[in-house]
Amino acid sequence: MEQWHKESVVYQIYPKSYNDTNGDGIGDIRGIIEKLDYIRSLGVNCVWLSPCYPSPGDDNGYDISDYRGIAAEYGTLDEFKEMLDGMHKRGIRLLMDLVVNHTSDEHEWFVESRKSKDNPYRDYYIWRDPVDGKEPNGWTAAFGGSAWEYDEQTGQYYLHLFSKKQPDLNWENPKVRQEIADMINYWLDMGVDGFRCDVINNISKDFTRAYAGGNGPRLHEFLHELHERALGPHKALTVGETWGLTPDQALMLTSEKRGELTMTFQFEHLLLGRVGGDKFDPEPLDKKAFVDILAKWEYGLKNDSYPVLVMENHDQPRALSRFGDRYNYPYESATMLASMLYGMRGVPFIYQGQELGLHDPTFNSMSEYRDIETINAYNELKASEKYTEIELLAKMQYGSRDCGRTPIPWTSEKHGGFTTGEPWIKTQIDDGFTVEAQEKKESSVLNFYRKLFSIRNNDPCLKDGEFELLMNENDVSVYTRTSNDSVVYVISNFSPEERSLPDCVPTNAEVLLNNYNEIGASLKPYQSFWVKK
Ligand code: GLC
Ligand code: CA
Repeated sequence: MEQWHKESVVYQIYPKSYNDTNGDGIGDIRGIIEKLDYIRSLGVNCVWLSPCYPSPGDDNGYDISDYRGIAAEYGTLDEFKEMLDGMHKRGIRLLMDLVVNHTSDEHEWFVESRKSKDNPYRDYYIWRDPVDGKEPNGWTAAFGGSAWEYDEQTGQYYLHLFSKKQPDLNWENPKVRQEIADMINYWLDMGVDGFRCDVINNISKDFTRAYAGGNGPRLHEFLHELHERALGPHKALTVGETWGLTPDQALMLTSEKRGELTMTFQFEHLLLGRVGGDKFDPEPLDKKAFVDILAKWEYGLKNDSYPVLVMENHDQPRALSRFGDRYNYPYESATMLASMLYGMRGVPFIYQGQELGLHDPTFNSMSEYRDIETINAYNELKASEKYTEIELLAKMQYGSRDCGRTPIPWTSEKHGGFTTGEPWIKTQIDDGFTVEAQEKKESSVLNFYRKLFSIRNNDPCLKDGEFELLMNENDVSVYTRTSNDSVVYVISNFSPEERSLPDCVPTNAEVLLNNYNEIGASLKPYQSFWVKK
């Protein structure tokens, strides 16, 4: 199987908010092309591009109406190829977003499918008769309401695990599976290097369960088939978006000998600070659990698979706001989080803007939000009449996906130089947080990220050395990475207070990375460093 993933450092681009070059307020492919040298300068060698296919935009491109095209607002297929070429020239691989659990309801397959029960595309989707005049079962959709939508035309319901404009494909149908494999080959033949696979464990449904979701009985079979027909022959890298797996389940999907996916994301630590994982229900962060969960996955995937190291993406508020100390120690806590996470074994994923240590923008009213999930959640919670307007706005500010979706502040100009027009979503430009300001300042989060990855990329021990957690208590963690005769220690203080330096930290070791100028008798607030013995 493909091995290049072990060398990868991945940068996620959310194209709508990256860089707009024609003043329509929407980021575009030309805008990415303009920034390729910047991207390379971060020390990344792979880009994951969120969907840029034609889409009505109900879920910002995760509702695709044509799998083989490029959305007009982002550019043309020729520009896409130019971007791909520009990446390859710089030693950067490209992962596209593979959204094949569902399509848009405006995809021609669904337009056909809903026409009649005997339409050739009927079985491309999941249609059911009403049961007692109601929904076929009690499954609910991720964006609220029932997962079933009644369609007058034929008197049946179709399944949608997300919005009703995102009907689920019927993977039981062999024609659907062949269409998807062909589409994957189309992009791989063009030179794309792999895919991030959206909610991929949902493709096989388990209808015996009371709650909606995937991990159905044929998941492994479907993925293995895709691997045989498309991914394997191209040595494509795949990373699955798989919520709620145990390490053992993740191994079943990624173990090299199985020929399914290359890696899966693990997001368990991203559920912290949320009551029962509910993103709109805050609770204090359990810092010990944060490190323990990461360590659990390091151990759990050991030898047979390769972890993904992630703390931000387009579905999450900014890590600095969630896990760091935005007001008192923005630089120290943003760099501590990076140093602690990316010292581990696995493939680092960095979400655009994370390298600047961005915090969440401030949303002053519901009219500033664009995300369907946020808007639906607000309406549902409001209808429950349990919360005041101020409480509702605080909840949205805490959990909204839009927190991570506002444009990159490139310069101190209006809208951060993102656009010369009106941006599709609000921009927030804070002093010192722009790319321009951070380029100039040696001790910026941006330059810390560059340094971190230049060290990591050149150190075999940091790439593949064995992980061991030595301690995690009182906000201080120490772990080691070991290979052959070298040991790297990663020491982090996850607190705004000084802490004593643990005894297990070696003296006279070579300092590789440090977010303070020195290592003293005690750890400074949010201090984190790597030393090598
Ligand atoms: C994934 C995407 C998210 C999208 C959903 C439905 O979770 O990351 O943005 O809304 O799938 O496609
Ligand atoms: Ca544009």
